[in-house]
Amino acid sequence: MTTLFLSADRNLDDWIAAWRETAPDRPILVHGQDDYDPARIDYALTWRPPSGVMQTLPNLKAIFNMGAGVDAVVADPDRPPVPIVRLVDNDLAVRMSEYVVLQVLSHFRQAPAYAAQQARREWTPHDQPSAPSARVGLMGYGVLAQHCAPILLALGFNVIGWSRSKKPSDITLYHGRDGLPEFLARTDILVCLLPMTEDTRGILNADLIAQLSTASPVGPVLINAGRGGLQKSDEILAALQSGALKGASLDVFETEPLPADSPLWDAPNLIITPHVAAVPDPAATVTSITSRMTAFERGDPVAGLVDPVRGY
Ligand code: NAP
Ligand code: GLV
Repeated sequence: MTTLFLSADRNLDDWIAAWRETAPDRPILVHGQDDYDPARIDYALTWRPPSGVMQTLPNLKAIFNMGAGVDAVVADPDRPPVPIVRLVDNDLAVRMSEYVVLQVLSHFRQAPAYAAQQARREWTPHDQPSAPSARVGLMGYGVLAQHCAPILLALGFNVIGWSRSKKPSDITLYHGRDGLPEFLARTDILVCLLPMTEDTRGILNADLIAQLSTASPVGPVLINAGRGGLQKSDEILAALQSGALKGASLDVFETEPLPADSPLWDAPNLIITPHVAAVPDPAATVTSITSRMTAFERGDPVAGLVDPVRGY
């Protein structure tokens, strides 16, 4: 079974090395580097795949994505109608939890304010609320958010979640558009880990920000590590400037890299990172993907199978 690496913008050197070491019995080719016969390709291994290539692979059996978010794959209307498998991997979940905990604590312990004071050589302590007084709302309660929740709970935060469907959970979980207002009204620090779909596009906007709780002295805060298309950046910027948002962390943007002239770079209390919340480790990820290929070939259940209608 031959796999074709397909990425418009990721440096694949580490991935190719990890693949050759971890799965020497599974041949790989790299689109744009290797000459190949399209009829020989069984699997596409994608990260923001260049459009139009997948439709040239007549014997494609499945698409395995090198990330959790499959919006760039689903967006190719000409891809063959084969199963899409997104990345579900413990290493990725650990990295996302690190990012989420770092951002929640940064805003909760007022790190941007102290950094600004340090730049001015100013010594001014601020009030320090207790963790149980702050409610963290996990927007999108999937694989990654469910990894974050127990860590935030262990730190003492109140943690609630919001998902598309109703499901059993250890935390209070709201679901669907009907459950959104109550979820937002009970959230001081909003962490968005939604996938980018037609339902979720632009959901992080002024109207949503206006519904967040203002009960905590450190909130409302917005953290987005989902996708840039989920947010209306100009409305988030305005909310930071007006104080409607006390702080924000954005890891993802509509245009990446974020243009140097974007006004977001100068927004108050905004922590910007360059889409690095959870960068998959090639060695861990290759093992996770090839074991899923084996399950697929045996006809066993495959974790991370995408529903193309839902889009995630
Ligand atoms: P997942 O397991 O598929 O979880 C997605 C969650 O979002 C589920 O709880 C789902 O609800 C919910 N959801 C989807 N559409 C919804 C809607 N319309 N209304 C309400 N809830 C909705 O995905 P994951 O593995 O946790 O990953 C989440 C996202 O993180 C990815 O799609 C990707 O965009 C992003 N990500 C970013 C980075 C980074 O470095 N910034 C790294 C990895 C992933 P149900 O539970 O009801 O299905
Ligand atoms: C990264 O953004 C991912 O979707 O895994």
